[in-house]
Amino acid sequence: MTTPHSDTPPPRILLAKLGLDGHDRGVKVIARALRDAGMAVLFGVFYNGGDLLLAWWSLGCCACFEEGFVLKVKAAVLWEVGQPLDICEVDLDEPKAGEVLVKVGSAGICRSDRHFMHGDAPIAIPVVLGHEGAGTVVQTGPGVTLAEEGDRVILSFVPACGRCRSCLEGHSNLCDLHGATGANMLDGTTRLHADGTDIHHMGKVACFAEYAVIPETGVVPVGNDLPLDKAAMIGCSVTTGVGAALYSAEIKAGSTVAVIGCGGVGLNVIMGAALANAGQIIAVDIREAQLEFAMRFGATHMVNAADQDPVRQVRELTGGRGADYTFEVFGSGDTTKAAYDMAAKRGIVTVVGIAPWGQEAAINAVDLVRNEKTLRGSYYGSARSRTDMPVMVDLYQSGKLNLDDLVVRHYTLDQINEAYADLDNGEIGRGAIMFD
Ligand code: APR
Ligand code: ZN
Repeated sequence: MTTPHSDTPPPRILLAKLGLDGHDRGVKVIARALRDAGMAVLFGVFYNGGDLLLAWWSLGCCACFEEGFVLKVKAAVLWEVGQPLDICEVDLDEPKAGEVLVKVGSAGICRSDRHFMHGDAPIAIPVVLGHEGAGTVVQTGPGVTLAEEGDRVILSFVPACGRCRSCLEGHSNLCDLHGATGANMLDGTTRLHADGTDIHHMGKVACFAEYAVIPETGVVPVGNDLPLDKAAMIGCSVTTGVGAALYSAEIKAGSTVAVIGCGGVGLNVIMGAALANAGQIIAVDIREAQLEFAMRFGATHMVNAADQDPVRQVRELTGGRGADYTFEVFGSGDTTKAAYDMAAKRGIVTVVGIAPWGQEAAINAVDLVRNEKTLRGSYYGSARSRTDMPVMVDLYQSGKLNLDDLVVRHYTLDQINEAYADLDNGEIGRGAIMFD
């Protein structure tokens, strides 16, 4: 960035809203032409019948224009843990090298965001949450080669660097650089701000906003005919759940499976188990409605853990052996222990849910050895977003993944707190925010 020559405030162009339609794009083209011509001018107030577009450049030197565009976007911001999300206008910088600007089309209501809102998991604050999303690329930063303007994309909350040890070993879901930079962009800074305060980006996605700047490795282009809400689901719950069944646990045909927690992610574990031709798929939840809903996605048996001991029930349903594969898909120490206890000899226990920070699960250390059980975690379905998400798209489009029944509620961004209340109240299936 070039240093200003004087004390005048840095010149900026503020666009109340930037979209892909002709009028908005026209404003942007004019603005760029003026910048390129080195002109300093107040060049217009535009009204397109819906959005007021105010474009101006304050007096200053043309080099200062390298500050670039700042978009004013509506976003749901978590200013403080325990508070509702605040729907407000924030500043979004232009994409830098290797980044793209995405107009968000849909964002899923996932429990992982809820963990951050409640403080069950740590994250830098303030933050724009939202990590399950899809949209359209509207601008590419310098050097971008993995996506083009106009591409419909699924957003990945682990944009893999491709160069660290985890990526090189084929585990891009655990990218070291992404882990080290957390809720900032890969260069450690943020593109979101409000009144001089930096706002962080959950998973470098931050899709509870009209627009998002995302590393190019965090977008996966898909065909423009894939519905945006289904595309968004593939960004988290589908890849996490189906991936846990197929890539983490590698379920064998004919085996017995138990899934604890049948919400948005658990239903996808069930679908993954069905895809792997598991014999028995036992759905375990504390709500009857979730259990009945799970039968639509391939569950063969139900266990209501609110009024029965789920470990005993699963053992009974499997002839006393326990299940060959068990999955924890809620997020707690107790349900992790239950998943472990209901596993058969040589059983594979896969923990998908994220328990509140600091919670522990008491595992019988002797049982672990004598019964040769395997206890493992699964993050983002042990999937490699850029190659495995297109597989999920194919599975959906060939009728093998039922995402049409998975998304049952649609909301606007303004209704996001209501959407999370519905999640808390145990409404079935997945909710999705839809943007214009
Ligand atoms: N035993 C069984 N099921 C339970 C229990 C319990 N003790 N407590 C809650 N559940 C059920 C809920 O009734 C709900 O159906 O777990 C399900 C959780 O589903 P969602 O709230 O929709 O959460 P989801 O978005 O699917 O995420 C599940 O996976 O990725 C992680 O961070 C995410 O920890 C979260 C988990
Ligand atoms: Zn999620």
